Amino acid sequence: MTTLRLGDSAPDFTQDSTEGTIHFHEWAGKSWVVLFSHPADFTPVCTTELGKTAALATEFAKRGVKPIAVSVDPVDQHKKWIDDINDTQKTTVNFPIIADADRSVATLYDMIHPKALATQTVRSVFIIDPKKVIRTTFTYPASTGRNFDEILRVIDSLQLTDNHKVATPANWKDGDDVVIVPSLQDPAELAQRFPKGFNAIRPYLRMTPQPNK
Ligand code: BEZ
Repeated sequence: MTTLRLGDSAPDFTQDSTEGTIHFHEWAGKSWVVLFSHPADFTPVCTTELGKTAALATEFAKRGVKPIAVSVDPVDQHKKWIDDINDTQKTTVNFPIIADADRSVATLYDMIHPKALATQTVRSVFIIDPKKVIRTTFTYPASTGRNFDEILRVIDSLQLTDNHKVATPANWKDGDDVVIVPSLQDPAELAQRFPKGFNAIRPYLRMTPQPNK
Protein backbone atom coordinates (compact mmCIF):
# COMPACT_ATOMS: atom_id res chain seq x y z
CA MET A 1 0.00 0.00 0.00
CA THR A 2 1.29 3.42 -0.93
CA THR A 3 -0.37 6.73 -0.31
CA LEU A 4 -2.09 7.81 -3.49
CA ARG A 5 -1.71 11.46 -4.34
CA LEU A 6 -3.22 13.78 -6.91
CA GLY A 7 -1.56 13.17 -10.26
CA ASP A 8 -0.75 9.52 -9.51
CA SER A 9 -1.98 6.79 -11.81
CA ALA A 10 -5.03 5.00 -10.41
CA PRO A 11 -3.89 1.44 -9.68
CA ASP A 12 -5.55 -1.28 -11.72
CA PHE A 13 -7.24 -4.26 -10.02
CA THR A 14 -9.47 -7.22 -10.71
CA GLN A 15 -12.21 -7.90 -8.20
CA ASP A 16 -15.66 -9.45 -7.89
CA SER A 17 -18.68 -7.13 -8.00
CA THR A 18 -22.46 -7.10 -8.27
CA GLU A 19 -21.98 -6.89 -12.04
CA GLY A 20 -19.47 -9.76 -12.26
CA THR A 21 -15.68 -9.64 -12.28
CA ILE A 22 -14.39 -6.11 -12.79
CA HIS A 23 -11.04 -5.45 -14.48
CA PHE A 24 -10.91 -1.85 -13.33
CA HIS A 25 -9.02 -0.09 -16.14
CA GLU A 26 -10.86 -2.04 -18.81
CA TRP A 27 -14.19 -1.33 -17.10
CA ALA A 28 -13.38 2.40 -16.85
CA GLY A 29 -12.60 2.63 -20.58
CA LYS A 30 -12.53 6.25 -21.72
CA SER A 31 -14.83 7.50 -18.95
CA TRP A 32 -14.21 9.52 -15.84
CA VAL A 33 -14.68 7.37 -12.74
CA VAL A 34 -15.83 8.02 -9.19
CA LEU A 35 -14.48 5.15 -7.08
CA PHE A 36 -15.91 5.44 -3.58
CA SER A 37 -15.82 3.23 -0.52
CA HIS A 38 -18.34 2.89 2.30
CA PRO A 39 -18.12 0.95 5.57
CA ALA A 40 -20.72 -1.78 5.28
CA ASP A 41 -23.92 -3.10 3.71
CA PHE A 42 -27.25 -2.69 5.53
CA THR A 43 -26.15 0.45 7.36
CA PRO A 44 -28.24 3.61 7.25
CA VAL A 45 -25.85 6.28 5.97
CA CYS A 46 -24.42 3.98 3.28
CA THR A 47 -27.94 3.13 2.14
CA THR A 48 -28.70 6.82 1.55
CA GLU A 49 -25.35 7.38 -0.17
CA LEU A 50 -25.79 4.58 -2.67
CA GLY A 51 -29.40 5.62 -3.24
CA LYS A 52 -28.29 9.18 -3.94
CA THR A 53 -25.63 7.96 -6.40
CA ALA A 54 -28.27 5.92 -8.24
CA ALA A 55 -30.68 8.87 -8.28
CA LEU A 56 -27.98 11.04 -9.88
CA ALA A 57 -27.32 8.53 -12.70
CA THR A 58 -28.33 11.01 -15.41
CA GLU A 59 -26.05 13.69 -13.95
CA PHE A 60 -23.08 11.31 -13.88
CA ALA A 61 -23.81 10.09 -17.43
CA LYS A 62 -24.11 13.68 -18.74
CA ARG A 63 -20.54 14.29 -17.58
CA GLY A 64 -19.19 10.98 -18.93
CA VAL A 65 -18.65 9.60 -15.42
CA LYS A 66 -19.06 6.02 -14.19
CA PRO A 67 -19.57 5.56 -10.43
CA ILE A 68 -18.35 2.39 -8.72
CA ALA A 69 -18.73 1.62 -5.01
CA VAL A 70 -16.60 -0.64 -2.83
CA SER A 71 -16.90 -2.25 0.56
CA VAL A 72 -15.56 -5.39 2.19
CA ASP A 73 -18.86 -7.29 2.24
CA PRO A 74 -19.42 -10.29 -0.07
CA VAL A 75 -21.33 -10.09 -3.33
CA ASP A 76 -24.41 -12.03 -2.13
CA GLN A 77 -24.85 -9.48 0.69
CA HIS A 78 -24.41 -6.60 -1.74
CA LYS A 79 -27.11 -8.03 -3.98
CA LYS A 80 -29.59 -8.40 -1.10
CA TRP A 81 -28.75 -4.90 0.09
CA ILE A 82 -29.39 -3.43 -3.39
CA ASP A 83 -33.02 -4.58 -3.08
CA ASP A 84 -33.25 -2.64 0.17
CA ILE A 85 -31.59 0.45 -1.32
CA ASN A 86 -33.97 0.42 -4.28
CA ASP A 87 -36.95 -0.08 -2.02
CA THR A 88 -36.12 2.50 0.66
CA GLN A 89 -34.52 5.16 -1.57
CA LYS A 90 -37.01 4.76 -4.44
CA THR A 91 -34.32 4.29 -7.01
CA THR A 92 -32.55 1.66 -9.10
CA VAL A 93 -28.91 0.96 -8.34
CA ASN A 94 -27.36 0.86 -11.78
CA PHE A 95 -23.62 0.84 -11.02
CA PRO A 96 -21.38 -1.93 -9.66
CA ILE A 97 -20.57 -2.45 -6.01
CA ILE A 98 -17.21 -4.15 -5.60
CA ALA A 99 -17.22 -7.07 -3.15
CA ASP A 100 -13.82 -6.58 -1.62
CA ALA A 101 -13.93 -9.45 0.87
CA ASP A 102 -10.15 -9.99 0.69
CA ARG A 103 -9.61 -6.22 1.14
CA SER A 104 -7.29 -6.07 -1.84
CA VAL A 105 -8.88 -2.95 -3.37
CA ALA A 106 -9.25 -1.32 0.04
CA THR A 107 -5.56 -1.94 0.70
CA LEU A 108 -4.46 -0.77 -2.76
CA TYR A 109 -6.35 2.52 -2.30
CA ASP A 110 -5.67 2.90 1.45
CA MET A 111 -9.38 2.90 2.28
CA ILE A 112 -9.05 1.28 5.71
CA HIS A 113 -7.99 3.74 8.39
CA PRO A 114 -7.71 1.47 11.45
CA LYS A 115 -7.60 4.27 14.02
CA ALA A 116 -10.98 5.48 12.74
CA LEU A 117 -12.64 2.17 11.84
CA ALA A 118 -10.83 -1.07 12.63
CA THR A 119 -11.46 -3.30 9.63
CA GLN A 120 -14.04 -1.61 7.43
CA THR A 121 -13.46 0.93 4.69
CA VAL A 122 -14.03 4.59 5.55
CA ARG A 123 -15.79 6.94 3.11
CA SER A 124 -13.03 7.51 0.54
CA VAL A 125 -13.61 9.13 -2.85
CA PHE A 126 -11.29 9.01 -5.86
CA ILE A 127 -12.15 11.03 -8.95
CA ILE A 128 -10.19 9.53 -11.83
CA ASP A 129 -9.92 11.01 -15.32
CA PRO A 130 -10.04 9.14 -18.66
CA LYS A 131 -6.22 8.85 -18.64
CA LYS A 132 -6.54 6.97 -15.30
CA VAL A 133 -4.98 9.84 -13.37
CA ILE A 134 -6.25 10.54 -9.84
CA ARG A 135 -7.58 14.10 -9.96
CA THR A 136 -9.33 14.46 -6.58
CA THR A 137 -9.43 12.51 -3.34
CA PHE A 138 -11.33 13.06 -0.16
CA THR A 139 -12.15 11.00 2.89
CA TYR A 140 -15.08 11.29 5.28
CA PRO A 141 -15.66 9.38 8.52
CA ALA A 142 -18.30 6.67 8.84
CA SER A 143 -20.63 9.02 10.70
CA THR A 144 -20.83 11.61 7.92
CA GLY A 145 -22.56 10.91 4.63
CA ARG A 146 -21.01 12.59 1.63
CA ASN A 147 -22.56 15.32 -0.51
CA PHE A 148 -22.87 13.83 -3.99
CA ASP A 149 -23.74 17.21 -5.48
CA GLU A 150 -20.27 18.28 -4.33
CA ILE A 151 -18.72 15.36 -6.23
CA LEU A 152 -20.55 16.51 -9.37
CA ARG A 153 -19.45 20.10 -8.72
CA VAL A 154 -15.79 19.05 -8.51
CA ILE A 155 -16.14 17.08 -11.76
CA ASP A 156 -17.66 20.18 -13.42
CA SER A 157 -14.68 22.21 -12.24
CA LEU A 158 -12.13 19.64 -13.43
CA GLN A 159 -13.74 19.29 -16.84
CA LEU A 160 -14.01 23.07 -17.26
CA THR A 161 -10.50 23.92 -16.09
CA ASP A 162 -8.95 21.14 -18.22
CA ASN A 163 -10.23 22.94 -21.31
CA HIS A 164 -10.02 26.65 -20.46
CA LYS A 165 -7.38 28.77 -18.75
CA VAL A 166 -9.57 29.36 -15.72
CA ALA A 167 -9.98 28.15 -12.14
CA THR A 168 -13.15 28.03 -10.07
CA PRO A 169 -13.55 30.16 -6.93
CA ALA A 170 -15.00 29.27 -3.53
CA ASN A 171 -18.48 27.76 -3.66
CA TRP A 172 -18.51 28.02 -7.46
CA LYS A 173 -21.14 26.06 -9.28
CA ASP A 174 -21.66 25.47 -12.98
CA GLY A 175 -22.69 28.74 -14.63
CA ASP A 176 -21.10 31.09 -12.08
CA ASP A 177 -18.24 33.43 -12.94
CA VAL A 178 -14.72 31.96 -12.81
CA VAL A 179 -11.22 33.33 -12.34
CA ILE A 180 -8.61 33.64 -15.08
CA VAL A 181 -5.39 31.76 -14.26
CA PRO A 182 -2.71 34.24 -13.13
CA SER A 183 -0.16 32.88 -15.64
CA LEU A 184 -2.24 34.16 -18.55
CA GLN A 185 -1.11 37.74 -19.17
CA ASP A 186 -0.88 38.12 -22.95
CA PRO A 187 -3.51 40.76 -23.94
CA ALA A 188 -4.18 39.17 -27.35
CA GLU A 189 -4.78 35.73 -25.83
CA LEU A 190 -6.96 37.23 -23.08
CA ALA A 191 -9.12 38.95 -25.70
CA GLN A 192 -9.35 35.79 -27.80
CA ARG A 193 -10.16 33.46 -24.88
CA PHE A 194 -12.50 35.80 -23.04
CA PRO A 195 -14.47 37.81 -25.61
CA LYS A 196 -17.02 38.77 -22.94
CA GLY A 197 -14.21 40.57 -21.09
CA PHE A 198 -13.18 40.32 -17.46
CA ASN A 199 -13.20 42.33 -14.27
CA ALA A 200 -9.73 42.82 -12.80
CA ILE A 201 -10.53 43.32 -9.09
CA ARG A 202 -6.80 42.97 -8.48
CA PRO A 203 -4.13 42.20 -11.10
CA TYR A 204 -4.16 38.58 -9.83
CA LEU A 205 -7.94 38.37 -9.31
CA ARG A 206 -9.73 38.58 -12.63
CA MET A 207 -13.34 37.42 -12.82
CA THR A 208 -14.93 36.39 -16.11
CA PRO A 209 -18.15 34.70 -17.21
CA GLN A 210 -17.79 30.94 -17.54
CA PRO A 211 -16.25 30.59 -21.02
CA ASN A 212 -18.15 27.49 -22.17
CA LYS A 213 -21.61 28.96 -21.47
C1 BEZ B 1 -23.78 3.96 8.23
O1 BEZ B 1 -23.62 3.80 7.03
O2 BEZ B 1 -24.84 4.36 8.66
C2 BEZ B 1 -22.67 3.72 9.21
C3 BEZ B 1 -21.70 2.75 8.93
C4 BEZ B 1 -20.71 2.52 9.85
C5 BEZ B 1 -20.65 3.26 11.02
C6 BEZ B 1 -21.61 4.24 11.29
C7 BEZ B 1 -22.62 4.46 10.36
